[in-house]
Amino acid sequence: MATSIVPLAEEHLAEWVAIHNQVHLILPWHLTIDTRSAAKLLDDSENQLSFLAVENGSCVAIGTLDTRMESTASVPHFAFQIDAHQAAMILLKHLIAEARNRQFEEVSILCWESITQLQKLLTESGFVEKNRQSLMILNLSKACDTVPKQGLTISSLGDSVSVEEFVAANRAAFADDASRPLEVEEIEEWLETQPGFRPDIQLAALIDNRIVGTALSEYEDVGQGDVTARHAWIYGMGVIPTMLRQGIGTALMEELCRRLRKYGVSRVRLLTDPEGGINTFYDRLGFVHEAYRIEYILALG
Ligand SMILES: CC(C)(COP(=O)(O)OP(=O)(O)OC[C@H]1O[C@@H](n2cnc3c(N)ncnc32)[C@H](O)[C@@H]1OP(=O)(O)O)[C@@H](O)C(=O)NCCC(=O)NCCS
Repeated sequence: MATSIVPLAEEHLAEWVAIHNQVHLILPWHLTIDTRSAAKLLDDSENQLSFLAVENGSCVAIGTLDTRMESTASVPHFAFQIDAHQAAMILLKHLIAEARNRQFEEVSILCWESITQLQKLLTESGFVEKNRQSLMILNLSKACDTVPKQGLTISSLGDSVSVEEFVAANRAAFADDASRPLEVEEIEEWLETQPGFRPDIQLAALIDNRIVGTALSEYEDVGQGDVTARHAWIYGMGVIPTMLRQGIGTALMEELCRRLRKYGVSRVRLLTDPEGGINTFYDRLGFVHEAYRIEYILALG
């Protein structure tokens, strides 16, 4: 069957979203997107190259190549219909060729361990596993009752904390982390466009008016028909290196869970390094491991 690769355009948005979101039916924690957020890919089509694989006039696979990082081009969106392995392979090769043309050293893609069809495609294309993160889940059934550390206050972007101060503290906490640092512009964009990214659930821990830790979160409604629930993601949970092991992370997490519970959130999720000692931190808070997310890399040398 002939497969054509076409750039994402306004008229494809609904199909794009449908293919993207089908992963959500298999993995309920997978973030869904709507046509509005897909349209943002069009606005940034210089940096985020999005394509569809089309067979017999309908879209069977979608993919985006993000070229904003320096030497690594990432693939933030890649999904295909279960019987469209060949078309997906053609699309993946197209993304790889685009990365090669732009002189990138490698292509990176994240894949849930249980999406075996995508893993097969990636290994067939020469990708190798680079690292894996553990998806941790906490049910917010019980209330927390820890006494907060003296002199510590928890504030938020909804109060007096500026986005610039917040981002600077988050970057300090994640200074050793190889992943892309948080940007002021992206926080501003999320606040403006993501209804579940509320300013009062972007927390800052302060001691003597100085931010010593941050936690970001976003909730979304998951499920279909009458069976829906509100779940949240937590990311950017970090304490500045000089203030570790003083209960700040725990205080941030407990206040965040309290606020999320008020919004009707029943479950929170986050990704963490399965090897690190930090798991003890999450274990103590009651989080349990749910799945692995693997980063695959293809060297373009
Ligand atoms: C994870 C993090 C936020 C914890 O913050 P924190 O303020 O140091 O944590 P707390 O003081 O509240 O720790 C509570 C308990 O968790 C456990 N814990 C915390 N960090 C730990 C570590 N690095 N290794 C082992 N156990 C740890 C301990 O049992 C600790 O109690 P104790 O100090 O009495 O032994 C902090 O280590 C951090 O910012 N790390 C860098 C950024 C990061 O990796 N964030 C996680 C992204 S998923």
